[in-house]
Amino acid sequence: LQAPVLTIDGPGGAGKGTISRLVAERLGWHLLDSGALYRLTALAAGKHDVSLDDEASLAEVARHLEVVFVAEGGTTRVMLEGSDATTTIRTEQVGDAASRVAALPGVREALLSRQRDFRQFPGLVADGRDMGTVVFADAPLKIFLTASAEERAHRRQAQLREAGVDASLSSLLKEIQARDARDMQRSVAPLKPAEDAITLDTTRLTIPEVVDRLTELLTQRG
Ligand code: C5P
Repeated sequence: LQAPVLTIDGPGGAGKGTISRLVAERLGWHLLDSGALYRLTALAAGKHDVSLDDEASLAEVARHLEVVFVAEGGTTRVMLEGSDATTTIRTEQVGDAASRVAALPGVREALLSRQRDFRQFPGLVADGRDMGTVVFADAPLKIFLTASAEERAHRRQAQLREAGVDASLSSLLKEIQARDARDMQRSVAPLKPAEDAITLDTTRLTIPEVVDRLTELLTQRG
């Protein structure tokens, strides 16, 4: 018997991270932030001077990623090779490098079993791009979370402002569109809703509304 999985896929900035964490908390389930694994691979590659074109070495880096996730109140600390990488992996630069390494089949393959290991009782909320299409294709409930690119740029700007960083809306929008294009057009595990996924557009929804809707859907399926 396998633990249940709720997959939450969608483009960057749609609120997957926050929503996934809140839903996991409410259910008392485990959480997989698969994007963090791609970000950590990119970061570790930089540390070890591995070029972002060297697929074989990047796959090795991904396979041997020395990472620990430490739950701490409402947040999770990420330790890479013993040092705290929580904030470093969130930078635009690492995000960009992550989406490049994520386009390489060898890297995706290397991260598969590590991701599947997160599937444990009482259940798992899995956040990413290919959770419902590839990694947990047998998940009983699959959600595709979207929001317009403009709305996602606004949210990102507000988030950065809170961190004391000023960024123009037009440059954020450009970055979001470039990342979307790369994630959707790659040949391996491109970003798209699973055939049996429920698409939820969060453009006009608040975070609590989305969390309620997802828990409701899960109860209906459960
Ligand atoms: O979600 P997050 O922004 O942290 O993901 C960083 C990058 O990792 C994405 O732009 C995407 O290219 C890649 N990714 C992926 N598959 C996943 C999760 C993330 O390809 N399941």
